[in-house]
Amino acid sequence: METDLEEIAKRILMKIGVTNGEKILDFGSGIGTYTIPAAKLAGSRGIVYALDKDKKNLDELMRKIGLEDLGNIKRVDTSGETKIPLEEESIDIVLLYDVFHDYYFPSPEDRRRLLDDIYRILKPDGFLSVWPKHLESEAKEEIENANFYLESKHEGNLIHNDIEVEKGEILNFRKRKKERKKERKKEN
Ligand SMILES: C[S@@+](CC[C@H](N)C(=O)[O-])C[C@H]1O[C@@H](n2cnc3c(N)ncnc32)[C@H](O)[C@@H]1O
Repeated sequence: METDLEEIAKRILMKIGVTNGEKILDFGSGIGTYTIPAAKLAGSRGIVYALDKDKKNLDELMRKIGLEDLGNIKRVDTSGETKIPLEEESIDIVLLYDVFHDYYFPSPEDRRRLLDDIYRILKPDGFLSVWPKHLESEAKEEIENANFYLESKHEGNLIHNDIEVEKGEILNFRKRKKERKKERKKEN
């Protein structure tokens, strides 16, 4: 059963564009439902940062990695802050699956802070991939307002709560260039 679920996750990750050699951040990775297949697709030249505020989830992920001898997953423990401990413009793909919603980020301002930091760490040609589970109606607009544009949509089977298979839609966004504020010319 676990292998079937991994195949399902792998299929959708291939569809959204995960390929070999990429640097990926799985924000809110949980126990690694998408982290592990992403790491297999990224291969030894790639890396997946599994970031979560729940230590137990990351412990379970590490246990699973140990069974598979996967060396390209890096654990990132946080306290739930929206500031991501990664370098500016260092990441090819950010996965934001079933975490961008009211339960974890109660206000639009919280979500905006997170999006601003994702913008900071993404490479100029990188992309943000979102499964807007539980926030289907607002997510697209909020993300577009944070200087991203929707590039593609990908329907397919997704895994919810690590075990339930359901149809869903992944949205891939690219960074828009931020407009520079025009400096007002001082009148003499
Ligand atoms: C519903 S699970 C989704 C897990 C995984 N992305 C998936 O789709 O299978 C949400 C995860 O996000 C984590 N999370 C929620 N808010 C977070 C925050 N502010 N910083 C880091 N992790 C967070 C939770 O601890 C939980 O493991």
